Amino acid sequence: MKLKNAITLSAVALTTAFTSGDLYAQKKKTKTKKAQEETVIGVQRGSNYGDPKDVKAEAGAFAIVPLKYKYFGLEEYIDEETMFIHFSKHYVAYLNNLNKAVAGTPQAQMSIEELLRTLDMNNATLRNNAGGYYNHNMYFAGMSRSGGSPKGALAAAIDRDFGSFDNFKKAFAEAGAKRFGSGWAWLVVNNGKLQVVSTANQDNPLMPGLGVSGIPVLAMDVWEHAYYLKYQNRRGDYINNFFNVIDWDVAEQLYQKAIISKP
Ligand SMILES: [Fe+2]
Repeated sequence: MKLKNAITLSAVALTTAFTSGDLYAQKKKTKTKKAQEETVIGVQRGSNYGDPKDVKAEAGAFAIVPLKYKYFGLEEYIDEETMFIHFSKHYVAYLNNLNKAVAGTPQAQMSIEELLRTLDMNNATLRNNAGGYYNHNMYFAGMSRSGGSPKGALAAAIDRDFGSFDNFKKAFAEAGAKRFGSGWAWLVVNNGKLQVVSTANQDNPLMPGLGVSGIPVLAMDVWEHAYYLKYQNRRGDYINNFFNVIDWDVAEQLYQKAIISKP
């Protein structure tokens, strides 16, 4: 079966960010010391969760996007067991179910973004699993140990559209906290402006007819499976700590592509 590129989220921004792109190469050089420290932590703890690179999905039109860090890579903020279950079980299940759903259909030839934009929202299986695949790719790729704050054009746009970085953080945190049940908080580019929006379940702003739209540049999963083992009912603490693991370089890349894309 024909295998697509790993992902086409906003062209290839995410894959270039953590596979073979210049940005990854630069970050790898500057993070050598930190990566060694992570390995030491893993050995000392005797991790039983294996290497995320060994996780395989069933063959299909869409492919697994590997994690760019170990399961314990974000440990202070998102625990290893949660990352293991989230990536190797939840995410892979969405991917396998997506591939089953599109097998033999024209959607198997589409990019995931095109599939989402043209989705029949009454097709619950495809809605849930295509959303689950795209959303988790955004989430996992959008995190790293780097933390910090946005720089460059995205930082300027956040100041322009929210007034300040703190205002953005408040809006993003509220979007996650107020999402009843399971869902997502998003930072999107909509008609050239940044907006914070929220979606339920595995919906996302690329899908039609939701009343929210835009090209995502940052995603935060607020399903309980993203935080419950460490935080239990304290979703607010998970959200506050999420700001420590945002990979602003990836968000910047996605922002740059979004502002030159057609809405
Ligand atoms: Fe999730």
